[in-house]
Amino acid sequence: MGLQLQGLPDFPWDALTPFAERARAHPDGIVDLSVGTPVDPTPQVVRAALAAAADAPGYPTTHGTAALREAVAAWFARRRGVPSLDPGAVLPTVGSKELVAWLPSLLGLGPGDVVVHPEVAYPTYDVGARFAGASPLPADDVTAWAGRDDVRLVWLNSPGNPTGQVLGVDELREVVDAARRIGAVVASDECYALLAWDEPWASGGVPSILDPRVCGPSHEGLLAVHSLSKQSNLAGYRAAFVAGDPQLVGRLLEVRKHAGMMVPGPVQAAMVAALDDDAHVDEQRARYRRRRTALLAAVEQAGLEVDASPAGLYLWARAAGPGQDCWQTVADLADLGVLVAPGAFYGPSGARHVRMALTASDDDVARAAARLSGA
Ligand SMILES: Cc1ncc(COP(=O)(O)O)c(C=O)c1O
Repeated sequence: MGLQLQGLPDFPWDALTPFAERARAHPDGIVDLSVGTPVDPTPQVVRAALAAAADAPGYPTTHGTAALREAVAAWFARRRGVPSLDPGAVLPTVGSKELVAWLPSLLGLGPGDVVVHPEVAYPTYDVGARFAGASPLPADDVTAWAGRDDVRLVWLNSPGNPTGQVLGVDELREVVDAARRIGAVVASDECYALLAWDEPWASGGVPSILDPRVCGPSHEGLLAVHSLSKQSNLAGYRAAFVAGDPQLVGRLLEVRKHAGMMVPGPVQAAMVAALDDDAHVDEQRARYRRRRTALLAAVEQAGLEVDASPAGLYLWARAAGPGQDCWQTVADLADLGVLVAPGAFYGPSGARHVRMALTASDDDVARAAARLSGA
């Protein structure tokens, strides 16, 4: 059975073009908060490591260098409350989007298999299930799939895109227990884990699926997916990794070796530098916190309500009261010269919300905040 391209959604961003034009007509220009692409400089320590590794005549290893896998394991112990990760069970990926899109196929899933993902979600979970010919099932509640033996993979995303929702230890454990009972894999996309704003997550940390409080002593059936794009301003490097169950990672490694899915050597060296240095991540987090505080106050002054959003790089907002369709809110904000993403891009339950990214320069955030609070 070949790659399944039928049933893929239209690339939704084209639908925003008329609203971008409307926002561009603002006398002081557009502030684009629709896409979440980092805008701050790549840290010097990471650029220096990339440059120092620029002489790279040979092929990189698909499994990643020992230095990289050890840096990932040490980072999980230091920053993610996972003390016992086996460096052999770490695999670098070319950013995490490709892993999200290909994981069902790499695990051998196909027609008749079900892939669960959050109801309001990053669209690539759905796309990946369809590539494999499997069926996506949007569900936040474990009871929607517990006991079903056709469920082979369950995606979690905490903190979530677009809602910023965080899953606590008990919620994660409930998913792990239900998945283990039916032999399904749990893949937890944790790319915003270090970007938490509200308590208890800001000081207590966002729990990982590999945390022993969640999964006990074994990582069986579990994969944590993490990216350096956001926390280290490295989206252009394509620097991410997956880690967890040694057998599952071994299977992914085998297929990825055959398919040539490897991270360039200089990028692997840059990843080691990024993982070893907490200071730049803390600085970047402080920047996003300032932007979030400014935007949050202005959005509330504009009469919008912000739901969830205790962590991550977005505000998940809607018109106050009974609520209006997200496209109307997108239009209202475009008239202020502020472009945001309609919640409908992330699933039908997002139809009354808009997503505002914190990934804009200080100057752009200040301009957006001034326009919103004046509205
Ligand atoms: C939830 C989620 N997962 C994965 C990604 C992909 O990130 P990258 O491919 O840059 O690692 C994104 C990017 O926005 C995301 O929001």
